[in-house]
Amino acid sequence: MRVLSGIQPTGRFHWGNYFGAIKQYIDLQDAHDGYYFIADLHALTTIREPDVLRGYVRDAALDLLALGLNPERATLFVQSDIPEVSQLCWLLMTGAPLGLLERCHAYKDKASKGLRADVGLFTYPILMAADILAYDSNWVPVGEDQVQHIEVCRDLARSFNAHFGEVFIMPEAKIVPGAAKVPGTDGEKMSKSYDNTLALFGDPKELRKKIMRISTDSRPMEDAKDPETDHLFQLYRLFASEERIGEVSAIYWKGGFGYGDIKKRLADAAEIYLEPARKRRLDLENDPARVQEILSQGAAKAREAASNVLQRAQKACGLK
Ligand code: ADP
Ligand code: TRP
Repeated sequence: MRVLSGIQPTGRFHWGNYFGAIKQYIDLQDAHDGYYFIADLHALTTIREPDVLRGYVRDAALDLLALGLNPERATLFVQSDIPEVSQLCWLLMTGAPLGLLERCHAYKDKASKGLRADVGLFTYPILMAADILAYDSNWVPVGEDQVQHIEVCRDLARSFNAHFGEVFIMPEAKIVPGAAKVPGTDGEKMSKSYDNTLALFGDPKELRKKIMRISTDSRPMEDAKDPETDHLFQLYRLFASEERIGEVSAIYWKGGFGYGDIKKRLADAAEIYLEPARKRRLDLENDPARVQEILSQGAAKAREAASNVLQRAQKACGLK
């Protein structure tokens, strides 16, 4: 199966990005033909500072490789290195009903708040459809928030195929099973938009400080508590072994503990868990040529796939 997904380089990756998305890509790479890309064209709808964008793209590549994305198994590339995708995007735009895009939440939410929405944001789902269709992707692992966009992609593929003949393979969204909805330091969904994130590769001391500031409830220490309702515990279980999770769960049920102790356990567990990736990241940082080579090879392979599909689509609609 060809598995494809993209992630936007719009900030440093946090725990939510890893446990909600990146970890699943990496888990799928062994059994499938994984195509994973850094969606810099999509990021341009929000990041308008060239150096910032360049930095986030570089960080995204380093993070993904350090976290275990294996270029021997999966194809890793940067979206804008594949010009065929933008060409395919135009073919899909012609014939795309306005109403289909007006219903999409990224644009709708922004417009409903009276915020400035540009044409790029409006047509964002079509570029995403081009990303998916360009590689004959079968499965697209995504979080719940992206399912609507996959539906748009399927709609566009279906109507193109119905009009011009069978050009595109119909992709399917794979809602990643067990993908955690990771809470942030305030207990809400972790997101860079809420300023409640915990970084994967930040300064370890800074991270520890942030963990110690995670919000907790004000129930008396003596009270027994259900760990399942506590966001601190939900974070802890992402990093700890089954045995340790059982231990901490028992502490909650017994009561008479301090949240400070759990926070320290969380900081220790996260540090141990992330240590190998941190080391790999340092090695990669010191070898930019290697990272560049991985991305170039990924792009070459991705271009080959995309140019086949583009030619098929161009011929079908009378351009060649
Ligand atoms: P952010 O909300 O910080 O802007 P993005 O929307 O760029 O993050 O998310 C990138 C990927 O990470 C998406 O696939 C999204 O579903 C996943 N993701 C982000 N935050 C979380 C979270 N708190 N829990 C689970 N998955 C998340
Ligand atoms: N829109 C996705 C997000 O914000 C990123 C993305 C771009 C993507 N193109 C894609 C995801 C194609 C899957 C397939 O998370």
